[in-house]
Amino acid sequence: MIISAPTDYRKAAKAKLPPFLFHYIDGGSNSERTLQRNTEDLAQIPLRQRVLNNMSNLSLETKVFDEKLSMPIALAPVGLTGMYARRGEVKAAKAAENMGLPYIMSTVSVCPIEEVTPAIKRPMWFQLYVLKDRGFMKNVLERAKAAGITTLVFTVDMPVPGARYRDMHSGMSGPFAAFRRVFQSMFHPQWAFDVGIFGKPHDLGNISTYHGKPTKLEDYIGWLGKNFDPSICWKDLEWIRLYWEGPIIIKGILDVEDAKDAVNFGADGIVVSNHGGRQLDGVISSAKALPDIADAVKGSLKIFADSGIRSGLDVVRMLALGADCTLLGRSYIYALAAHGQSGVENLLKLYENEMRVAMTLAGANKITDITLNSLANIK
Ligand code: FNR
Ligand code: LAC
Repeated sequence: MIISAPTDYRKAAKAKLPPFLFHYIDGGSNSERTLQRNTEDLAQIPLRQRVLNNMSNLSLETKVFDEKLSMPIALAPVGLTGMYARRGEVKAAKAAENMGLPYIMSTVSVCPIEEVTPAIKRPMWFQLYVLKDRGFMKNVLERAKAAGITTLVFTVDMPVPGARYRDMHSGMSGPFAAFRRVFQSMFHPQWAFDVGIFGKPHDLGNISTYHGKPTKLEDYIGWLGKNFDPSICWKDLEWIRLYWEGPIIIKGILDVEDAKDAVNFGADGIVVSNHGGRQLDGVISSAKALPDIADAVKGSLKIFADSGIRSGLDVVRMLALGADCTLLGRSYIYALAAHGQSGVENLLKLYENEMRVAMTLAGANKITDITLNSLANIK
């Protein structure tokens, strides 16, 4: 399969992965309206072309919390990454490091923190969920600190998992799920050998390390439902502050009032996100939510944005709408599933190239030149 555009990796991932995994990545909640809106709304944002501005000194570099990034992109936390490629978290972290970007490890990763941090020199970021077991949260924060993790991303839009009907149909959950997963793997032998057999262990590495025994992947969605804590509130964040002195980014903000609360709490950053359309189906896209949020809190904390980014042009659009930096979710996961570490590196090079072309033709020499002014007024 010829890869020329970032979106080509989706098809390549679909061919490689057993359906239960592909659809877990690809799907959203309920009727997937928000999932659809995320990409559509973003792609429709019109850029403004400017010419003859001497663009010979273009730079994509940016700084986030004293950390230099080669471009305003970080790899989003994605659960079960080690199921999409053999020891996938290690591969994604190495790709991010080679490209000069942060990798954010998910709480529910396959590889534990301690397997990934020794493989890279760049400090990793870590994403935390509020789980009912506060002992686990305290333990994981201590381990994160010991492993040299600099930045904590605290996900707040998943007190309960969204209704993922696609997972029931695909065999990720639902009737005879275990049998269906084995059956599907037989028709994807490359994945079955590379990841299914040689990529073991397949448990939730961070949680197994805490319990001292493997956490089975069986009924993963059910496990999330049982262990996520719907009682989470701003008070819990104060509790986390006691155990974490570094920067805290709150991920899953979609409303101006919540963004203001994040500033009042003293967060160092927010991620404007609807979890890639996987939680409350029907909510607006990040692209639609971003301008008002930026208007209210820009400058008080770092604004990250995700959900729907599929190209370097989309990154430029999010920056123009008010983000300081972006996160890639599915886009890099498809590349990882298709071609491993080199797939992610190639994807990021495609993003970089698209951004260079867009910035040159939009008259933006540096990242901070990309503003609302970079968008065309088509009224
Ligand atoms: C996610 N996301 C996510 N977020 C998080 O904070 N912790 C997690 O463990 C996960 N797990 C996860 C698994 C999969 C398969 C996907 C696709 C997403 C959400 C992720 O960080 C990000 O917000 C979205 O993926 C952004 O949307 P796009 O770029 O995928 O459209
Ligand atoms: C998901 C969780 C793991 O979106 O964040 O599936």
